[in-house]
Amino acid sequence: MQAKYLKDYQAPDYLVDTIELTVELLAEKTLVESKVHYKKANPTATCLILNGEQQKVLSVLLDGRALAASDYLLTDEAMQLDNLPDSFELTIKTEIDPVNNTSLEGLYLSAGAYCTQCEAEGFRKITYYQDRPDVLAVFTTHIIADQSEFPYLLSNGNKVAEQQLSDGRTQVTWQDPFPKPCYLFALVAGDFDCLADTYTTKSGREVKLELFVDKGNLKRAAHAMSSLKTSMQWDEQRFGLEYDLDVYMIVAVDFFNMGAMENKGLNVFNSKCVLADQDSATDADYLSIESIVGHEYFHNWTGNRVTCRDWFQLSLKEGLTVFRDQEFSMDLGSRAVNRIHQVKVMREHQFAEDAGPMSHPIRPESVIEMNNFYTVTVYDKGAEVIRMMHSIVGEQGFQAGMKLYFQRHDGQAVTCDDFVAAMQDANNADLSLFKRWYSQSGTPEVKADIRYSNGTLSVTLAQHTPSTADQQEKLPLHIPVNVAFFDAQGQLLTDIAGGAEQVLHLTQAQQTFEFAVASQPYVSLLRDFSAPVKLSYNYSDEALSCLIPAETSQYTKWELMQALYNKHLLAKITNQNYQFPTVIGDTIKALMADDQTDKALLAEILSVPSVNSLLEIASGATIDAVIDAQKALKNMLASTLQAELQSCYQQNHIGKYQYSQNAIAQRSLANACLGLLAVNAKSTKNITLVELVNQQYQTADNMTDKLAAMSAASIIGGELFAGIIQHFDQQWRGDALVMDKWFAVQARQDVDDILDKIEQLQSHPDFNWNNPNRVRALIGQFAMFNPVQFHHSSGRGYRFLAQVIQKMNAINPQVAARMITPLIQFSKLDDARIQIIREELAKLAELPKLSKDLFEKISKALQQ
Ligand code: TRP
Ligand code: ZN
Repeated sequence: MQAKYLKDYQAPDYLVDTIELTVELLAEKTLVESKVHYKKANPTATCLILNGEQQKVLSVLLDGRALAASDYLLTDEAMQLDNLPDSFELTIKTEIDPVNNTSLEGLYLSAGAYCTQCEAEGFRKITYYQDRPDVLAVFTTHIIADQSEFPYLLSNGNKVAEQQLSDGRTQVTWQDPFPKPCYLFALVAGDFDCLADTYTTKSGREVKLELFVDKGNLKRAAHAMSSLKTSMQWDEQRFGLEYDLDVYMIVAVDFFNMGAMENKGLNVFNSKCVLADQDSATDADYLSIESIVGHEYFHNWTGNRVTCRDWFQLSLKEGLTVFRDQEFSMDLGSRAVNRIHQVKVMREHQFAEDAGPMSHPIRPESVIEMNNFYTVTVYDKGAEVIRMMHSIVGEQGFQAGMKLYFQRHDGQAVTCDDFVAAMQDANNADLSLFKRWYSQSGTPEVKADIRYSNGTLSVTLAQHTPSTADQQEKLPLHIPVNVAFFDAQGQLLTDIAGGAEQVLHLTQAQQTFEFAVASQPYVSLLRDFSAPVKLSYNYSDEALSCLIPAETSQYTKWELMQALYNKHLLAKITNQNYQFPTVIGDTIKALMADDQTDKALLAEILSVPSVNSLLEIASGATIDAVIDAQKALKNMLASTLQAELQSCYQQNHIGKYQYSQNAIAQRSLANACLGLLAVNAKSTKNITLVELVNQQYQTADNMTDKLAAMSAASIIGGELFAGIIQHFDQQWRGDALVMDKWFAVQARQDVDDILDKIEQLQSHPDFNWNNPNRVRALIGQFAMFNPVQFHHSSGRGYRFLAQVIQKMNAINPQVAARMITPLIQFSKLDDARIQIIREELAKLAELPKLSKDLFEKISKALQQ
């Protein structure tokens, strides 16, 4: 299996102006005809190569004349045609089988509805075509089907015709006026309920909004619709960007590999990312739906109107669109809490990717299977890189850069370099060094050294990026380090050159920044996570107890609290007998007592650093020591804060459900308290606390509180948990989306018979190996969020996951490859565990029909 390289990019030999697709939906024998106008673009080209897979070719016509099979060359992956005129029409008719397509890529059936997923390279499973993002064409799509079975026949753009055929079937025709790459093509056919609405753009155009959900689910569609309208308005206000078609459709489907897909005018969504109501969805679900609806909508400009030249440029659209959806959520909700969640993704997942065998820059240089590069690096680190540019040029400068970007590139397929050039040119900024973030992989480490003598404060910053699996040599990057200076009383130092809050631009391996100050200040570093780096600086306990209450950045309060936790967790990891100092509990008590403290922020502060994030920073430690230290910290907090937690719970557990930012914050705080109280209940067998958890489960009028109680009960275990699990099953069986929460809570439970339990759960009527949401809820949650059991020293967790991967390889290669992540990121584990994992990977590598997706990951892992 061959890798493709960025450096080998060549423009397409032929360009397309129009493509007319006719899809006759006939189950296993679905017919697809594509009529395409080609024009030679490269005068030296000698042949046209079309991508195509898993299709039976029925006929090929060149300018209307049938070609013999000997006139073209057919392989498993392509069709090659020679001796072509400079401009011609090619009509290819093929047969495909969407019914047995369990890969959920190309055209497939999702619970009775036909739908498509073409990004990145799924269009080649629908017809023979140049399946690459720099071939832009105007699409016309005819869909032919039985109208009684499939009342809605949808594709991109506007519906321009609908007619009854003589055999009783219906043919509808869609036209998308905007030239687009084929990865943005979509087709949906099915029976749905439709929630319809309208939106009037700022220039006064009325847009039809249609949200299609499974029959009976209308009551869960309102939040997604209102999120869509909010997104449209936000993009107008903040970016000046307006929607461009007359209709915007979203279809929710149950079988989907990822969250959602931004197909032009016809988004297809995982139903998990659409459906929500008070009874069935948590606050986290509501917020995630809002951000994903926003994300796909924002792609209409960043991704669709301006698209990627090639897939190495994926971060051009994804990093930028994630940045936009992050800003959307932050403008609507809590800036600090959103930032915390973003940073956790970086620390717990992206840093681990950098340290593993799949390490790559945000603009990868070589790819075997593109689906493997929809990663936290391309998406989330990509967004961090955009965020740094935003902080370098400021909001106004950034908007000027965006404006120039669209002026230059609307309707084009472009590169990350083009984006940076627009930012640079609009701001007269020099981003030449900054651009290294696009080509260099790995997590930079920034060491700070702060000294004070004779009225001079010296802040020395040194950067170093350890080499990664894909790249040995590393060079210094342009790292913006946001700092603030406080005096010992916690007041911002106003008379310091450059200001009390400023950004230090680290551009060399090491730099010292000097300031004249009357007395020794405390310095808060890397505020707001101003760069995606690991900061190492050993704050004293005194500095932290001064800075945490003093910080004016709410996010940074949390960050400094993490520093306090991490510092003492690391001490505990190296010495089991280490006693946590009282400063930890005292700092939290002070925050809890201060009614100025943001409740949602306090909830975040009450949750201790994850095992993953600790493994990243505890070099040389065993995972057992990390787990023990983390447990010890939880126990310490649960016991020293018990009184405070109980009263905080009572104050914030408001019985009656409301959906507002305030109510969400209160629920999150009460439930964070409940979680720690459950830790206490388990160790002390305190009946009152056990009853508190039970009480919340029984009386909750919303899923947030129900699920929080169920999770708390899973910590306590025993009859309490068993009873709740049984009750929930009775109430929700058959409602698979809700049952996913039930599967997940059980998969995360730290109990020794966990594998037997998971095995039993696989026979539950709602479990289904073909549905990625189910597999992720049960097996994905176990592998990612049950570190104690997954990493059991016997290796049974690893062996279990390997068996699941083998099974999924045959069903759905994309899902299999995503789920293997915890098995390939083993660099921080001990030799004995690594040995077991390697044996499992070696076995998987021998599978007779190993997908490209798994091949790429496993072979890289075994090379480490
Ligand atoms: N482009 C989509 C997004 O970020 C995600 C996506 C890429 C996707 N490939 C996919 C979704 C395959 C589903 C299946 O919004
Ligand atoms: Zn996206």
